[in-house]
Amino acid sequence: MIPLMKNAFIYEQETKKALANFILSSNRLSMDINCFDFEVQFSMKQGRKEGILFNSGGSANLAMIQSLKNIGKLKNGDKVGFSALTWATNTMPIIQMGLIPVPIDCEVETLNIMSSNLEDRIKEENLSALFLTNALGFVGDIEKIIETCKNHNILLFEDNCESLGTITQTGIKTGNFGIAASFSFFVAHHISTIEGGMICTDDEELAEMLRIVRANGWDRNLTAIQQSKWRKTYNITNEFDAKYIFYDLGFNFRPTEITGFLGLFQLQFLEETINKRETNYLIIEPFIKNNIDLIFLRHNHIKILSTFAIPIVCKTPELRTKYLNQFSGAGIEIRPLISGNIQRQPFYSKYIKKKYPLPNTDFLHDNSFYCGNYPELSNSDIEVIKSCIIN
Ligand SMILES: Cc1ncc(COP(=O)(O)O)c(C=O)c1O
Repeated sequence: MIPLMKNAFIYEQETKKALANFILSSNRLSMDINCFDFEVQFSMKQGRKEGILFNSGGSANLAMIQSLKNIGKLKNGDKVGFSALTWATNTMPIIQMGLIPVPIDCEVETLNIMSSNLEDRIKEENLSALFLTNALGFVGDIEKIIETCKNHNILLFEDNCESLGTITQTGIKTGNFGIAASFSFFVAHHISTIEGGMICTDDEELAEMLRIVRANGWDRNLTAIQQSKWRKTYNITNEFDAKYIFYDLGFNFRPTEITGFLGLFQLQFLEETINKRETNYLIIEPFIKNNIDLIFLRHNHIKILSTFAIPIVCKTPELRTKYLNQFSGAGIEIRPLISGNIQRQPFYSKYIKKKYPLPNTDFLHDNSFYCGNYPELSNSDIEVIKSCIIN
């Protein structure tokens, strides 16, 4: 059996031992210094000014959109473009927050929105924002996408939950393209805190609001200067009242100290895991390239390909059935290509009546699947995967 992920953590034993010691020796397990340290370390590594830790990538997405609304960058009824090939809790927050989702087709060979897909959509729709997913470690022609967003006054923000560590040939890290980006630390992502998520941004106003939104709408996790600004605005003159003053719409999406501790511990293995995932993929890739049943995924515009999984894109649904059987028969755990064409998901049809033609995402929905890629894949696991790719 080759599961989607073998362990909960990179360096499983070391991490579990360190976690056990941490829990035994800690007086406080609710959000505190380890969470804040992890935010600082992670955002420094990412090259962003601010990091705000959440209890999942999905809640980070919801908080990001709530915060953008709270600070007036988005408003009810705005049209938000998003990658049609994405994860459910990327798109759900757009609907939950009273915005209008506008799916954008992706390119089969890169699995991602390209500037031409975006250009096609904005001919017919007036987008206020683009919530871009960097799918499965891959990325589109982001330099052109950034330019198009600038030219059309479209607010760009990213869901980088699947692509931590990917860098374009022009040297830009995924997660650093727009006003903010989300990351996930769920098991099987590049680093794991069991459950967990982060938002990175250079925008101080947004970071401040994200901290308010993360914790009930109150000001407790703001700096003293920020607190006094809010308190002055609302005429809160004493600490007793300030404890239970709620300034704007929020949630309780706080992480625990376990999340913070695990994040700090796992961060030391990030480069290694990115390299190993890329190496695994590049060993398997020639077998995909040489197989006429399969489509080769182009990444010559990407310098570091921090893959999330090993996507297999077949030329027809019949061929997909053939390869699904080969993989399953060899005991390899497989999954559909994330949510496929999200318009075909029940939740989407329930709430959104307008449907757009998405031929490429439909093609991926019907013809592809993925298996896991992680540092613990052994040479013999890789041999088994290779043997299933041969036609
Ligand atoms: C693109 C994308 N966005 C958001 C999420 C949600 O992350 P989480 O599972 O941490 O809530 C995922 C999860 O895999 C994802 O793939």
